[in-house]
Amino acid sequence: MNFEIPNNPETEHFLQWVKDEIKVYEDNFELSHGDLNNKKILEIGAGDRRFAATCLLNGLTSEVYSLEPGLGNGEFDEAKPYATKEFLGGVLDKLPQDIQNKIEEKTIISDAEKISDSDGTYDLVIGRSVPFESEEQLEKRLHELLRVSKHVRLYPINESNRDAYTRAIEILTKDRQISVEYKTTVEDDIPTETGIKHITEDVVILRKTIFAD
Ligand SMILES: C[S@@+](CC[C@H](N)C(=O)[O-])C[C@H]1O[C@@H](n2cnc3c(N)ncnc32)[C@H](O)[C@@H]1O
Repeated sequence: MNFEIPNNPETEHFLQWVKDEIKVYEDNFELSHGDLNNKKILEIGAGDRRFAATCLLNGLTSEVYSLEPGLGNGEFDEAKPYATKEFLGGVLDKLPQDIQNKIEEKTIISDAEKISDSDGTYDLVIGRSVPFESEEQLEKRLHELLRVSKHVRLYPINESNRDAYTRAIEILTKDRQISVEYKTTVEDDIPTETGIKHITEDVVILRKTIFAD
């Protein structure tokens, strides 16, 4: 993976920032370079596709796919809380053309509840801050992600969505061999009007132990 990096300070600074974003993903998802290296990875709700960009800039894997419904032209329900076009273009437009092309080639315009890939396509699926409107939608999503990969990591699990995840995973694991692990990847004390609030954010790691469904 050799990319042409333009030689001007503003672009260099931007590209360094994108490159360094890999550390944030690795922290959020409890992943190492080794976990990503040469893997076929799908990011759902990929937003501005900076995960694909940082993987490419770090030379980790070129098999990185970005699934994002907000990039469509209305084929997905416009009323749903998809990201704005402005946000979605914020990173890609500033990348070198060859990297933009690579990312575009591997962009999937779809929502995460029905993915057109066949079973077990990916080594890993990740999703960060991807909203859901109901527990039914979340359960459908988890089921679909575990269909296309036997290894799924979603972040963050926090007080706003923990109960929904717990219930959806309970249903999911009823008749399937899936291991479930929560790891706290962010822990902080936030000052609020009423005092210090302790927050924790977990990544949930789902692994299909028998790859047949
Ligand atoms: C808060 S943004 C997070 C973007 C990116 N994952 C990040 O961490 O920077 C949530 C993204 O999920 C996308 N999204 C919303 N509903 C979705 C669904 N059902 N399936 C897949 N993506 C969805 C939105 O369009 C948006 O880009």
